[in-house]
This record gives sequence, structure tokens and C-alpha cells, in this order.
Amino acid sequence: MIGTHSAGGAHRAPYPVPFLCAPTLCLAALLLLLPGCQWFTEPPMHKPDPHSYSNPHETRVDSLHLSLKVDFDTHTLSGTADWFPVAGHASKLILDTYGLDIHSVAGDGESLPFQLGAHDALLGQSLEISLLRPTKRVRIHYSTRQGARALQWLDASQTEGKKHPYLFTQSQAILARSWIPCMDSPGQRFRYTAEVEVPPGLLALMSAENPTETRADGRYTFRMNQPVPAYLMALAVGNLEFRSLGERTGVYAEPAMLDRAVHEFADMEQMLATTESLYGPYVWGRYDVLVLPPSFPFGGMENPRLTFATPTIITGDRSLVSLIAHELAHSWSGNLVTNATWDDFWLNEGFTVYVEMRIMEALYGPDYAAMLSAIAHADVSEEVKSLTASGKEGKTRLAANTAGEDPDDGVGPIAYDKGYHFLLLIEQTIGRPRWDAFLKAYFADHSFNSMHTEGFLARLDSLLSETEERRIGVQEWVYGTGLPMNCPPPNSGRFVAVDSALSRWRAGDSSALPAQLSDWSTHEWVYFLRQLNGRDSLSATFLDSRYGFTGTRNAEIGCVWYQWVIRSVPELSTSRALNSAVDDYVSQIGRRKFILPIYKALKESGQAERAVDFYKRARTNYHSLARHSVDALLGWPNP
Ligand code: BES
Ligand code: ZN
Repeated sequence: MIGTHSAGGAHRAPYPVPFLCAPTLCLAALLLLLPGCQWFTEPPMHKPDPHSYSNPHETRVDSLHLSLKVDFDTHTLSGTADWFPVAGHASKLILDTYGLDIHSVAGDGESLPFQLGAHDALLGQSLEISLLRPTKRVRIHYSTRQGARALQWLDASQTEGKKHPYLFTQSQAILARSWIPCMDSPGQRFRYTAEVEVPPGLLALMSAENPTETRADGRYTFRMNQPVPAYLMALAVGNLEFRSLGERTGVYAEPAMLDRAVHEFADMEQMLATTESLYGPYVWGRYDVLVLPPSFPFGGMENPRLTFATPTIITGDRSLVSLIAHELAHSWSGNLVTNATWDDFWLNEGFTVYVEMRIMEALYGPDYAAMLSAIAHADVSEEVKSLTASGKEGKTRLAANTAGEDPDDGVGPIAYDKGYHFLLLIEQTIGRPRWDAFLKAYFADHSFNSMHTEGFLARLDSLLSETEERRIGVQEWVYGTGLPMNCPPPNSGRFVAVDSALSRWRAGDSSALPAQLSDWSTHEWVYFLRQLNGRDSLSATFLDSRYGFTGTRNAEIGCVWYQWVIRSVPELSTSRALNSAVDDYVSQIGRRKFILPIYKALKESGQAERAVDFYKRARTNYHSLARHSVDALLGWPNP
């Protein structure tokens, strides 16, 4: 039980300890509780990270203590970050920062010289601290500025309850440095503790052990005892309540949202148990989900112990809970075994999609999982086609090369769905028992450590025979472009049924389609709507009146419907009803995956002005990450 402490629930030591005799065990357990102690896993596989200025090869830091005050009036965080370097003298510590005001730096109480490097629009500034002598604690007094990229500040009016302001962070990929001076590289891990002061009446939560009750004085303390990389640092502050879902799972949300969230996530405890039975113990203690306001830029973010999730998955019929399975899966792939650099991002996401599919299959059956798998296949096929058509074939490689680029631009179907299909092909080639045993050992052996593509391939090499390796075409999958010929094809019986309903309907049989929306799952509708083409546009009004797509509360369905109407049904697209539905959609939802394709559809169908008109109103509701992408698409003048 070493190294799990109050996190609880873990069944094995998450990282190796040096000696294992009984007295030393006690001593080790004690030391592990102290910030700044050095009982750590073996040094991470070294691979230079082109997205960090930090110098981990010279000086490593193994824990952080944050003390921050959250100011909703000025939209700033201010306070101190205490870093505890691993003993052994190095003369300098280099951290990443982005737009931080550094007020002073001290080493064990004495002021230290420091220097901020030149500002780079992508990477920010290095903070170089001269360590005059071996130093136990480096204290940085700092504050964030308005516009800090990881932070989204919401007025009361932008929340569900309309009474209290809200703050949340999104640190992945390289935005942690915009609210904490840190080694912002996925290959560098640290434990942390924090004190956070917020206005009375609000609850503060982090990717750590969390409170379940609001404190009248607004002061909260946090502890994350397992080492995590900076991109998993997270903070949320708002009028939030907690409800338990099971022994180790629960949900936080604004009060008005809580009942719906509890209903939607009823299977979470079982998801956790299922994943453990497949891939070994869940070592993080609790698994809770925080439901954010709709402006959250992603579907979900796997912050350890506390997944952040978009409210757009709460549809009332539990049809989008695969997103929870996905974020939960990251507790193994990503949070436990972490991509060493953003070039290895497919190791995080490809594995996670694979594990997500396995969870969904175990809980809801192979027919259900096959739909998700077929959608992943369609997504990656489309992405390969469009990247190839626009001369960006190089971007279809799993092993990426993102130096000099924003790693956030690489978030898409290649890492996720090409990665997933590669792993699925391995599974199908060698059989589940061998593959599952491999995965379980992979997560156990590299717990709390990082992994790069080459390291994974070396391990895979020891699993596969030469014939298997050749049959799979490992090298081509990882380093080649496009989708290899032996990619497992989609195989969903439920989608075949949708296809046949669609062709019977096209042939004039209107009873071939479901009588009502609820007869098909979200996935069947998404699949159906994606097949619609220009010729079907004559039936748009019929479809809309039967199923009420325009103005739907199901954002996943809305996203596909609006794209098709905008691109293929001009009469409906310019109708007042559709105009105001799309306007509401893009101004209320900030999830990039949903809004970007709509702006794109407008732009590509000659309606760029209309897109800009929507965007003018919506932009203030978006997180900087979503703004960044839409700005680039629409050529927004002052990003
Ligand atoms: N970790 C990602 C989100 C992410 C990736 C944020 C890279 C910033 C940079 C998260 O696990 C994720 O993949 N979210 C998906 C949902 C999922 C079901 C595919 C999303 O937000 O759409
Ligand atoms: Zn993910």
C-alpha cells in the first residue's frame, strides 16, 4: 500500500520504492507524505520536449505547493508556487510561463536572481532561476494576468444558476504555464498540495482529493499524492454541489443540473469496476465527474480524480456516456502511463479510445460498441481523405512531429481513431487473452511514468512474432501515412439496419424510418444524418417535422443536422427558425468539436459573413482554446 495513503482504494504500490524491509517501509511511508521528498519512480524515459523550456535533465522538481487567491473582480489568480527540487545541486531551474507576472523568487527564504526569456506566441517565456546553493524550496510570488489562456472566467449570467460567477481551467496541452510557473512537459511529474481562497459561498475543486461541502470562509486545501504531469493540473470554482453515485464515484454540478447529471451517470461505479477487471486496479482513489457550463471547450478532460465534462452529454437517455468511459479510461492510459511528449499523443488517445470501446462493450454489449467503433472508422477515413486532399498527408502519421506547432492542433481523428484501429488490429491478430495480458502489464510496469512511441514499439516487439509483426505492418501503421489496407473495417449490424431503412425510405417507403426520435440511439441518428446528401434535401422539412431536429437539445444530433442543412438545404438554412436555432447553438455551446464544423460549413458554403455575424455574439462565451481555432478559421482580425 505504499504510496497510496489517503488516496485510498489502490491495491498495489503505484511506483517502485528503493528498499522493502519492514522498518524502511514505515520510514518510506512517512517520507512519502512530506512534500519535497525524493521517493520517486525511476527517471522518466528521456526524450527532449520541443514544447517546454524546462531543464529536467539538470534539475528535477518532485513536488509543488500552491497558495492562490481567486479574484473574480480582476479575473486574476495570485499567490505563490513553492517548488521542491530533487536533491543534488544544479545551478539553475528553468520553468515555463505564459503571461505570468513574476513578482519575486526566493530559495529557502533568500531572494534569488531570476530572468524571464523572450516571449514566444506559442511557448510563452522561460523563467530561469539561479540556484546559488543546494535549495530545498524555491518560492515564486506571481499572479496571472487578464486573458490567461488556461482560465475561463464566467459571469453569473453565463452559468446555469445565474447567481454566482464561475472559473475553470483547461491545462492540456501546454496551457498549465499560463496559471502556474512549472515544467510544462508531459514527461515531468510531481505531486502537489494547494491552498486556494475563493469568495465565500463558492466551492473550489482540483485534480486532487476534493471537498464535498462549501466552506463559509472560502478556504480550501488540496492534496494530490501521486505524481502527475502539469497538463493534469486543474481548478474549478463555482456554486457547486456534490452527490455520491457509489462507493468511489460521484458527481459535482451546479445545483440546477445535479439531478439530471446523477441520472445520466448512473453506471459510473460499474464502469470503474469493469475497467479494473480488465486492466488492473484504479490507483487514484476516487473517480468523480464535474459537469461544467456549456462553454467548456472540450467534451471531457481527464483531470485525475475529477474528470471535467461538458453538459452536452447530458441528454436524458444516457446515450453519450461513452465520453465518461473515455475519460475514465485515461486513468490508465494517459494519467498512469503518459505520453512523453506531444508527438506521442496517440499513445494517450489511441489507447484511451481502445479502452473506452472495451468498457462500452462490457457494459452495453458488442452491438452497441460496434456502433461507436464504426463512427471512429468513419471519422478517421474522412480525416485521412481531407488531410490528403489538402496536401497534409504527413499529418496522417501516428508518430507526429509537432515541434514549432501548437500541439493542440493535432487533436483529431488520427491520434484517436487511427491509433484505436491499430490497437484493434493487434487485438484481432493475436487474440484478446494475449493482448489483454500485454496491456495490463504495460499499465502496471510503466505506472507513473512516461512512454514514447519508440518505447512502446520496443515492448510490442517482444510480444509479437515476426510473422505477426509483418501481418500487422507495425512500421507502416506508426510511421506511414494514410489508413493501411488491413485496417479493420466497420462492422455494425445496427448501422446496417440504418442503411437499409435509409434506402427503403429513399425508395418511397416512409414507414421504413422510425416513428419517433427515441426509437434510435444518438449514434444511429448521427450515422443516418451523415449519410444524407443533396438529393435528400427535398425531404428536409419532412424529417424536421417528424423528429424536431432544429432546436434539438441533443447537441451531437444538432451538430450533424445543422451542418447538413447549411451545406445542402439552402431554403431551410436561411429560414428564421433555423437561423435562430444555429445562433443559439453556437452561442450557448463552447465545445470546439461542435462549433467549429458549423462555422466551417457556413464558410465553405459561401456564407462566411453569416458565420462572422454569429461569431461576433458568441465569441465572448468561448474559452481561449475554442476562440483560437475559430479565429483562425474565420480570419478574425484581433485574436
Ligand atoms: N484529453 C482529451 C482532451 C484534450 C486533448 C484537451 C488534447 C486538450 C488537448 C480528452 O480525453 C478527450 O479526448 N476528449 C474528447 C472526448 C472523447 C470522448 C473523444 C473531447 O473533448 O471531445
Ligand atoms: Zn482523451
